[in-house]
Amino acid sequence: MDKFLIQGGTKLRGEVRISGAKNAALPLLAATILAETPITITNVPNLKDVNTLVELIAGLGVTICYENGHLVRADTSTLDNQFAPYELVKTMRASILVLGPLLARYGTARVSLPGGCAIGSRPVDQHLKALEALGATIEVENGYVNAHVDGRLKGGEVIFDMVTVGGTENILMAAVLADGVTTIRNAAKEPEITDLAHMLVKMGAKIEGIDTDTLVVTGVEHLNGCEHAVVADRIETGSYLAAAAITGGCIKTTHTDPTLLESVLEKFEEMGAEVTRGEDWIELDMQDKRPKAVSFRTLPHPEFPTDMQAQVMAVNTIAKGFATISETIFENRFMHVPELSRMGANIQVEGNDAVVTGVDKLSAAPVMATDLRASFSLVLAALAAEGETLVDRIYHIDRGYEKIEEKLQGLGAQIKRVSE
Ligand code: EPZ
Repeated sequence: MDKFLIQGGTKLRGEVRISGAKNAALPLLAATILAETPITITNVPNLKDVNTLVELIAGLGVTICYENGHLVRADTSTLDNQFAPYELVKTMRASILVLGPLLARYGTARVSLPGGCAIGSRPVDQHLKALEALGATIEVENGYVNAHVDGRLKGGEVIFDMVTVGGTENILMAAVLADGVTTIRNAAKEPEITDLAHMLVKMGAKIEGIDTDTLVVTGVEHLNGCEHAVVADRIETGSYLAAAAITGGCIKTTHTDPTLLESVLEKFEEMGAEVTRGEDWIELDMQDKRPKAVSFRTLPHPEFPTDMQAQVMAVNTIAKGFATISETIFENRFMHVPELSRMGANIQVEGNDAVVTGVDKLSAAPVMATDLRASFSLVLAALAAEGETLVDRIYHIDRGYEKIEEKLQGLGAQIKRVSE
């Protein structure tokens, strides 16, 4: 199992190219099922999770290729089944996103229920309820969702009980081919949903209210292929900017978009960092200073994203003062806390609230990654710690960060991957 060996203490400096967003690429890939003619997606990140979904879509019979890990071409004319097996779905829960498109286009789908994961039970009840509102018959048995509709789905009214990114994506991909108008209320507004909506419109879909919490979709009978570039990864961007903040360095992230993560940039400025915003780049200069601790609560976009909670907590562990962090989205997203504590961090957890009191220095220790974003927070802590840290189970991090050690080495980090 691969591990990272990281020698801390270097101020990271330089430029890093941001990849396409994992959390946009996955729904965009699922949406290829809707295209009746060949479709091309560019700026795809070369990640394990993307590869898993490509494999699952190929299993449907789709002619799909993932060229040099950055371009996907799909031709659905060869699709010959609507079955998404547990073996693949269990390794990548976003596979549930093929449910809406399969049902919308073929009237039937048999998709394994995704398991929970380390950060929470992550049910999909909202996805299923929304599809039933469009006329689908849904049965859940033996760990599979069996969905069916005679003829086309019917446009209708969908109101989500809580803001759900995947739920919004699934129902949006179903509604675009439904007969009639669908209104989706309490919709998530993450930039990855906006990116999906933009591609669906290019394919011929009729969607109003993009970027708002109310989407109005007028169903059409056919959608065609197009060419679409995946939006920049706002979480990868914030993660590398956090590396400058925690080491007191200066990093410029390129091929990104500051408007995607304004709530995060404002927190970095509150820490005392100098943040410069360009058209497609962002530079964070910590000016050799120690950051000030910042409090925040995670909320749906455009508020502070839950996927940046672990990374900013890591910066807070060596900041001046103390901060309160509230995780309102997932029920178990503090698993990085015991690992950071092993490195000398002072963090008190009460339910979904954590109080972090900054210490002068973290010290190297063997730590273990538990989930994707927690893994990056351990890497951040190791970059700032005194000594050499071993981070184990980094397969988690490979799921969502393309070429992470090369990108960090390019910024001066002393990091290497060891396989044992
Ligand atoms: C997406 O997950 C992202 N994944 C997650 O990123 C991200 O943390 C999350 O949105 C929140 O922003 C992808 O886009 C592939 P949700 P998703 O449905 O869609 C509850 C990462 O690190 N809920 O918005 O699964 C759910 O349990 C990953 O890149 C229900 O109860 O998240 C959670 O508490 C981690 N029933 C909350 O809503 C449902 O039917 C938000 O979940 C659906 C969700």
